[in-house]
Order: sequence, then structure tokens, then C-alpha cells
Amino acid sequence: MSENFVNQIYYGDNLDVMNDKIADNSIDLIYLDPPFNSNRNYNRIYSTNTGMPVPEEAIAFCDAWELTEDKIEHIKLFTEELRGQDNNENFANFWEAWVKNLQFQNQKILSYLVFMARRLRIMKRKLKDTGSLFLHCDPTASHYVKIILDGIFGENNFKNEIIWHYQTGGISKRWLAKKHDIIFWYSKTNSYNYFPKNIMTKRTEKSLKRAQNPKGARILSSNREKLPMDVWTDIQALNPMSKERLGYPTQKPVALLERIIKATTKEGDIVLDPFCGCGTTLDAAQNLKRKWIGIDICMLSTTLIEERLKNNYKILIKGKDYIIDGIPITMEQVKALIEKSDKSKNEGRYQFQYWAIEKVQGFASTKKSGDGGIDGSIYFYKDENKTLGRMILSVKSNKKLQASFIRDLIGTMENNNADMAGLISYAPPSQDMLNEAKKSGTFKMKDGLFANVEYPRVQILTAEEILNGKKFNLPYSRLIKKT
Ligand SMILES: C[S@@+](CC[C@H](N)C(=O)[O-])C[C@H]1O[C@@H](n2cnc3c(N)ncnc32)[C@H](O)[C@@H]1O
Repeated sequence: MSENFVNQIYYGDNLDVMNDKIADNSIDLIYLDPPFNSNRNYNRIYSTNTGMPVPEEAIAFCDAWELTEDKIEHIKLFTEELRGQDNNENFANFWEAWVKNLQFQNQKILSYLVFMARRLRIMKRKLKDTGSLFLHCDPTASHYVKIILDGIFGENNFKNEIIWHYQTGGISKRWLAKKHDIIFWYSKTNSYNYFPKNIMTKRTEKSLKRAQNPKGARILSSNREKLPMDVWTDIQALNPMSKERLGYPTQKPVALLERIIKATTKEGDIVLDPFCGCGTTLDAAQNLKRKWIGIDICMLSTTLIEERLKNNYKILIKGKDYIIDGIPITMEQVKALIEKSDKSKNEGRYQFQYWAIEKVQGFASTKKSGDGGIDGSIYFYKDENKTLGRMILSVKSNKKLQASFIRDLIGTMENNNADMAGLISYAPPSQDMLNEAKKSGTFKMKDGLFANVEYPRVQILTAEEILNGKKFNLPYSRLIKKT
């Protein structure tokens, strides 16, 4: 990377972004806290940021662990990469046998593992020889993930399993209270950077006394500080009152990230967080004068990070101190997004869809086989009892549109008992389509301040209109009561 490196926030799937935008052998530290059952997480930021309600059980696209066709394709690709570029026949054989078993036993974990495996392989390539990777997870899947890490990085490069113990949260009567996360540390090679003196911990009074005891079995230094260990108990998880909190349930404390960054990097080094969420790693890196790159597939998270950095480091100027990449702002960029999506067979092909849906404050759904053409939804309260109303969304990247798209959409709306339907298209709609949409009539709120206001039941927005900030005409989600 060049000397005039600018800090970067990328919106997009980290698989594509790492492949296309990040140079091999360029990163000093990768920290990742990938999603696993983190659905509530996205739902929470979505509601906080858009003011729109969303049903608890709605599953967002960034946390989908179904064994879809895409995932099956990824399983094949990963096996080929292991055999071809990596020359890792041993792990390829193990992986194939494992896949055969998991395909029947646990498809959810298999989907998660293949998603992680393809990305971890690329992360290793991006690291400098002196670099390290820290993967944050919890005991739900840590044992599976470690096997993948051993397979990709080599078990010789396994450095530590850090136990991060915290006290926050409730205590169950049915099992021992679950109060720790796991952070795996792997180096890329054996000549890795580690600066333990940067993260010395304070000795307790008891251990100080022991260290000074001349009759002690071991001769210990009388330093007031000791070398760090692999169980961390002195950093608390964020509680609802924490000043740092941004409303992101899986948000990690800055202190945790600072310890990892200090342990393995120097000032000016480059830190990458490919699942950067609300930007804790970037915040810690900025504070410690390291360079940073963050990637997230949710546009909302990009917005949150920008605000966070602006609030904490007032001197940061967009374009000069950092850039945001991947969010189309011209039709040309929208076109490039669609064309790129068509080429690659991975999840990135939904990127236009995700972008368009997030831009209209919709909630992008997972591509389930049974979702019958629903790419997303916008929820709103349709009466004073807060009954959820729903506009279903369909996104068409086709260069030519057909009037049948509207008829199909109306059918889907009716079959799903939705209140309204929205079509988002790359191309402008024909007059026929507009007429079809008009025929479907209007939607009215039952009560509240907007009772009897009419909203077209089926609406169409083009990518160009979305770029210009236009939204669907919807009942406002927070019901304002008549006084
Ligand atoms: C558990 S959160 C990370 C929280 C973060 N450590 C923090 O402190 O804010 C996981 C993040 O990964 C993002 N994500 C999921 N799939 C992704 C993908 N394929 N590419 C990039 N980001 C992704 C989600 O949008 C979510 O923000």
C-alpha cells in the first residue's frame, strides 16, 4: 500500500471487496466478529435508524444460513481452491468428508462454515507475512471454526484461544451462566509481530507479594506488571448504560480491540475488519494511530460508522482522511453494480437489490426458495393497535420491463396478504405497467391522524429516482395519535 494511504469504509460483500480492492500481503492485522444468529442485531439497527418497525422473526440478508444453491456452489469452489491454488490436499480431503456428513446432519452449520471458509482463505492472502488474524466467536460454533482455521492457516500458526470473560447479562437456572467469548489468534507465518510489552497487565496485591517472596518456588520479577495471559477478565462487555453504546447489540468494547491492536501492530500499520458492524475496530485503530479498512454489507452500518468517527475524531474529513466506497451515487455506478452482479455467481449478484431496498428504507429479505418473488418489505403500523402493515418489494435489474411484472407482483401481494406492493426497477416502466399499477387501487389507514389518506396500493420507483432520494409513498410508521 502506498504512503498516502487513506482510511477506507467499504459497503459490500467482503468476499468481493477483499478480492477486488485489497492488495495481497498488505494487511498487518485482521480482526473479525462474523455474524452467527445475529439477526436481532440487524433488526435493531434497522429500526433505530429508519424509525420503521420490523417483526422480530424477520431474517435479514446478512444472516442467512440456508444451504441454498449459491452455498453449494461455494462448497465446490472452496474444494477446488484448496486443491488448486493452495495445494492443500489434506484439508481438501477432510473438508469433502466433512461436507458429506454435515449435508445431512446440520445444513445450517455447513452454510455458515462454507461462508467463513471462503472468506478466511482470502484473509490469509491479504495478510503480510508478519501479520495476524483474530477471529471473535462464541462457543456455539467455535469448535467448528477452529478446524477451518487450522486447515487454512496451519495448526503451527495457531497462537492462542483467548477467553474473554465478562459479567454482563442474565444468569440461567438451566445451565452454567454463559459468560465468555472466544477469540482465536492465528499468525500467517512463524515470523509474526507480537509486542507483549504494549499490553502488560497490572499485578494484584496477592501476586505482588508472591513475586517478592524469596522462598517462592519460582523466582519472579518484582515488576508491578506481568506478561499478558490468554484469559481476559478485566474488560467488561458493553451494558445498556455504557457511553460507547450505539444500539448495536453485538457491539464490542473499544478496550478489547485496543488490546488486540496494541499487541500485534505498530503506529501506521494497517488494520482490516471485514465485518465491521458499527466500527469498533476502526475507532480503536484511529485512536491508536493505525490505518484502517472496514467492510460491511449493510449500508446502515456504513452510515453509523461515519457518524461515530465524526463524533469521536472531529478532525476527520471525508475524502481526505477517509473514503467510503461501494455505494453507487450515479446511474453509471448502478449499472456497473448490476453488470458485475450478473457476472459472478455468488451472493454479490444481489447487491443491486440490497442497495435499492436499503435506499428506500426497506428490509431486505433472504433469498428463500419459497419467498415467491419478495425481495424485501417495508413494514409500518396500520392502526392505533400497532398492527403491522406491509409493503412487499420486488427489484428488477432487467434492461427491459414487462407489464406482467406488475401483474405477478399484485398476485404475490394478494397471496401474501400484504397491504401494498412496490416495484423497484433499473429501467423506466412502460405506460402499460403504470396503468396496471393504477388499476390496483389505493390503501387507507384505519385510524390515527392519517386515517382515510389514500396511498396507491402498487407503486413503482426507478433506480434513478432512488438516486435522487425519492421514496415510496407510505403511511408514516410511527402512528401519531389524534389529540
Ligand atoms: C456481529 S456484527 C459485527 C459487530 C462489530 N464487531 C462491532 O463491534 O460493531 C457482524 C457484521 O457483519 C456484517 N456482515 C454480514 N455478512 C457480511 C458480508 N458478507 N460482508 C460484509 N459484512 C457482512 C453484518 O452486516 C454485521 O454488521
